Amino acid sequence: MTSPLLKVTDLHVNFISRWPNEPNIDVLRGVCFELYRGERVALVGESGAGKSLLATSIIQLFDSSARIRQGQVTFEGQQLTQLKPKQLRQIRGRRIGMVFQDPMTNLNPSLTLEQQLLECILSHRSISRAEARLVALHKLRQVHIPAPEARLQQYPHQLSAGQRQRATIAMALALEPALIIADEPTSALDVTMQAEVMSLLTHLCHSNGVALLLITHDLSLVAHASDRCLIMYAGQIVEQGPTSVLINDAQHPYTQGLIKALPQMSSPGQTLFQIPGQMPVAQELGNHCAFATRCEFAHDRCWQQTPTMPTGNGHRASCHLLTAAQAGDE
Ligand SMILES: Nc1ncnc2c1ncn2[C@@H]1O[C@H](COP(=O)(O)OP(=O)(O)OP(=O)(O)O)[C@@H](O)[C@H]1O
Ligand SMILES: [Mg+2]
Repeated sequence: MTSPLLKVTDLHVNFISRWPNEPNIDVLRGVCFELYRGERVALVGESGAGKSLLATSIIQLFDSSARIRQGQVTFEGQQLTQLKPKQLRQIRGRRIGMVFQDPMTNLNPSLTLEQQLLECILSHRSISRAEARLVALHKLRQVHIPAPEARLQQYPHQLSAGQRQRATIAMALALEPALIIADEPTSALDVTMQAEVMSLLTHLCHSNGVALLLITHDLSLVAHASDRCLIMYAGQIVEQGPTSVLINDAQHPYTQGLIKALPQMSSPGQTLFQIPGQMPVAQELGNHCAFATRCEFAHDRCWQQTPTMPTGNGHRASCHLLTAAQAGDE
């Protein structure tokens, strides 16, 4: 079997407390997953689950108070957790592209699109400026930016929000990375633009052979946009599998709740379902299932022991109900 492009193993990340006597509690708690070349993987979970922290921990572009306490991140065979800042910058700039929620995080407001795109292309390819300009135009066409020749001379503020995010995607693709990490890439856009930009991003990654880690809190956005899905809850991956299998046959009560809450699952006039309660923060977590406080099926064992994710490559979830069901089957 081919080796994964990205492998995250038992990743624990915490924030150094501002108070000397306060313990540093893990916010990411043993995250494990693999991502293969050209694969589109969605990372889904509600606000505060740790999605952005996971994305930024992979490339160590996180808050200065964050620390990887334990675990490994292997990308293209290299241990990212052991690289020097300069080596990491090179990987971030060349092999892993980022697309953030706010396009202005990626774009420099004081440079024209031409200056930014050319700088980006020439930083990793030995071609002339004229050739780089052709590549830049090609990338802008790929993301459906109208009149790309004229756009090249413009500054980011002269583009619409949707065009700015498409320019960001063009820039990320221009690096010819092996992986793009996109954190809520469409949530700052209006609803009509969201679907278009999402489809462009996933389609272009697919056609350019670039792997995608797509972060969102909206499961409905990724249903058709990803090959595989990771469901995150309170700093852990609680379910993973091929997206269509996971959506049609969710195993974890949390994923089942997310699916039940999708607008398309309710009839017109019906109130939308909401998972009751709130996700606990890291300080509130104990040695039990983090979802037990909201789970209608929670039983004694769920309050006594943290469930673990079964090993393997297929569809799987970390839930005591499933282990109990499997034990019953045997
Ligand atoms: N600098 C920080 N110091 C302390 N805690 C932090 C810091 N940044 C994030 N956290 C905590 O880490 C947890 C995960 O945050 P993260 O931003 O990864 O969530 P998220 O899943 O991306 O949420 P959202 O969907 O709202 O973007 C949250 O509980 C948050 O409060
Ligand atoms: Mg986030």
